[in-house]
Amino acid sequence: MNLDVLILAAGKGTRMRSALPKVLHRLGGRSLLQHVHTTACALQPARVVVVYGYGGETVKQALAVPQVVEWVLQAEQRGTGHAVQLGLAPLAGVEDSVVLVLYGDVPLLKAATLHPLIDAARNGALALLSVRLQNPHGYGRIVRNSGAGVERIVEERDADEAEREIDEVNSGIMAVPGRALRQLLDKLDCDNAQGEYYLTDIVAHAVAADIAVTAIVADDQHEVLGVNSRAELACLERVYQRSIAQQLMDGGVTLADPARLDVRGELRAGEDVFIDVGCVIEGVVRLGDRVHVGPYCVLRDSELAADAQVLEHCVIDGAALGDGTTVGPFARLRPGTRLASGSKVGNFVEIKNADIGVASKVNHLSYVGDSRLGRNVNIGAGTITCNYDGANKHRTEIEDDVFVGSNTALVAPVTLGEGSTVGAGSTITADVPPRELAITRAQQKSIAGWQRPRKKKP
Ligand code: UD1
Ligand code: CA
Repeated sequence: MNLDVLILAAGKGTRMRSALPKVLHRLGGRSLLQHVHTTACALQPARVVVVYGYGGETVKQALAVPQVVEWVLQAEQRGTGHAVQLGLAPLAGVEDSVVLVLYGDVPLLKAATLHPLIDAARNGALALLSVRLQNPHGYGRIVRNSGAGVERIVEERDADEAEREIDEVNSGIMAVPGRALRQLLDKLDCDNAQGEYYLTDIVAHAVAADIAVTAIVADDQHEVLGVNSRAELACLERVYQRSIAQQLMDGGVTLADPARLDVRGELRAGEDVFIDVGCVIEGVVRLGDRVHVGPYCVLRDSELAADAQVLEHCVIDGAALGDGTTVGPFARLRPGTRLASGSKVGNFVEIKNADIGVASKVNHLSYVGDSRLGRNVNIGAGTITCNYDGANKHRTEIEDDVFVGSNTALVAPVTLGEGSTVGAGSTITADVPPRELAITRAQQKSIAGWQRPRKKKP
């Protein structure tokens, strides 16, 4: 039996108080909808349908993934039952598959938790995912009969006092044989406190039609919690970050404080990596064995080879650091930066689209852009590659063993030949031949007997 997944994502999320549709708010750097979509794809479904409404096209664009997704517009939100009805419409032959209903605002659900639900539905049952909550307020409650069988679900607003005492709540997630689902949806009405078509009402209809109903209680409440407000989003973000931190530690990473790391993407780390407090990881970041990351660094889409050291307060973006490199403190590496092994970038240095050769050093207060540095190059403090003429970018080539004195402007395009030296304070506009000294500073003179001006008497 095939599996088809419906993701309900039409709601505005009024309590977010946001112009952005709720399912596009981010958790761990990815939208809530992306999280749910990833979980859906892990189940290898035949089809995935997203029911969208509020936010229209922006929701569609946000899920720019290669997997085939069918989009169904629910222009007017008339309830979860209505949303599922619409979502089934494009699914030809759904009678012969199992339909799994997921919510676009429940981001931490794991595929493994869904397997028993899908299995139960494959055996003909309507299978719900429920959870016990200390404070069940706001959720639909699972009403069981004296034999503990599920009888129906009652929404908070329609529940009487006794029913509100029930602590087993409906997560909203369910798996249903397609044929049964079609039939049950036909029986829905909107005779309730919210005047909506409740998907949850199919449970009572299933019981009446002698369709087996089973509620599987989730172990981890965080997996099934939805995001309704910014506070709930922040709470689930922490839960997510804690689990990422745990995985990293399990894999041999030392975190100075697992509560003070934020991974907003994917971090792969080797053994004996150390990450200090306050670091933010974005995009895809790879850290080789024994990489050391100092406090308060941002690492984005970068690869750091074994034994690389990033000292405090660095921004590493789109860079590749070779083994044994040292960066920082206070360095900014921009996209296209490649540091060969053993090279060093020091404080207040910005590097963009540049190759820094083996064992070369750019230690202080410099800008190196659109450049290639050979091996054993030393760039003095305050050196600037003037790569931009106001219209175009030009390259600076610095060959092996070049020494550039402090406070030098290298006006690109320009090449410093192998083993050449540039005197401090120079503005280099022409190529420097190998092994020669280039110097453009004015000659120093001393004036004997010169007197400082004196203050006039009033
Ligand atoms: C729903 C359940 C409730 C459950 C709770 C869990 C119903 C009637 N109630 O209530 O039993 O405890 O979820 O979080 O199903 N949506 C649409 N179109 C609509 C309405 C909703 O796509 O017309 C989507 C929303 O975007 C959201 C999901 O369905 O992703 C749930 O909707 P929401 O309004 O949050 O349902 P609850 O009232 O919380
Ligand atoms: Ca909700």
